[in-house]
Amino acid sequence: MAANTLINPIPLLTPYKMGKFNLSHRVVLAPLTRSRSYNNVPQPHAILYYSQRTTDGGLLITEATGVSDTAQGYPETPGIWTKEHVEAWKPIVEAVHKKGGTFFCQIWHVGRVSTYGFQPNGQAPISSTDKGVTPGIDGVDWSPPRRLEIDDIPHIVNDFRLAARNAIDAGFDGVEIHGANGYLIDQFMKDQVNDRTDKYGGSLENRCRFALEIVEAVVNEIGADRVGMRLSPFADYMESADSNPNSLALYMATAVNKFNLVYLHVIEPRMVKMGEKLETPHSLGPMRNAFKGTLIAAGGYNRSDGNKAVEEGYADLVAFGRLFLANPDLPRRFELDAPLNRYNRSTFYIPDPVIGYTDYPFLEDHVPA
Ligand SMILES: Cc1cc2nc3c(=O)[nH]c(=O)nc-3n(C[C@H](O)[C@H](O)[C@H](O)COP(=O)(O)O)c2cc1C
Repeated sequence: MAANTLINPIPLLTPYKMGKFNLSHRVVLAPLTRSRSYNNVPQPHAILYYSQRTTDGGLLITEATGVSDTAQGYPETPGIWTKEHVEAWKPIVEAVHKKGGTFFCQIWHVGRVSTYGFQPNGQAPISSTDKGVTPGIDGVDWSPPRRLEIDDIPHIVNDFRLAARNAIDAGFDGVEIHGANGYLIDQFMKDQVNDRTDKYGGSLENRCRFALEIVEAVVNEIGADRVGMRLSPFADYMESADSNPNSLALYMATAVNKFNLVYLHVIEPRMVKMGEKLETPHSLGPMRNAFKGTLIAAGGYNRSDGNKAVEEGYADLVAFGRLFLANPDLPRRFELDAPLNRYNRSTFYIPDPVIGYTDYPFLEDHVPA
């Protein structure tokens, strides 16, 4: 039975209208870097990977996709800054659409989370600062970055605008601006990274200026109804932390209203264990109240707390990362409350076009004939 025809659907499997998109359920594919786009070109094996995870009326977000030749920091991640990239994305998007999915492209610049080896002519990665990520974190010898000059900034904003245009040309329904997880936009927003003294540093308003200039440029290029944004104000990933994450969260949730973004996608504050219970030291509640569009929550969700989040109005949609990676038919498994495949961390980022990518079994495979 299709998710949207259930008589007594669980909250995660109820329909939802996100702007102009009619979603049949609330189980979103979170953006997941898979490092299988050789030389930054999306590959035909991604057709199967994404279409396996597509349901009629489901929302999918691509893996982080580079906006320019300085945007990369990991091996074999896709780009969307050349004609070749756009052409390579087209059959992938087409396959998702054929199965009735809504598909957003996550557009990304890593900033200082990179090394000379990923940069054109071996130059320094760019950032809000010239302080590097501590070499050795995640086993990588991160290179010291070059602080962007004020005159460089419009060029980077323009790269995001062009990438968004390219995404629409490739057939995507919209883009998600990656403002999370310690990458370039986050490096401007967080006061423990941004040490600038110009109009892009110092006050909260100044630190968020770069993010909001990108939002404005992208919205003007492709229309607000096609633009979402991902944020992780509470996280400290890649040494990108803020001394007052609640203020940052609230400021951004309020500021983006001016641009009518279709959604905000927020990674939950890290869970901390209090005795036997997992508790979060912060809540998305204030962002939810401030932001007028759709709120997507992500980070550590399972079936039962995803249902709870939707039922209580804490979030409109819930994105699942590792569970969706390992369970291509996750909405169906949630529908049936079926057991889940376990994810295999050791194959998350290998370049193999099948193993750990398109070979996770569907539920049918478990059912005896
Ligand atoms: C293999 C892997 C790759 C990821 N790649 C991205 C990415 O490209 N962009 C992004 O915003 N988050 C990325 N994330 C974070 C996930 O989108 C998600 O926020 C995180 O896994 C927590 O959700 P989960 O507990 O449902 O997995 C990645 C996570 C994993 C495990």
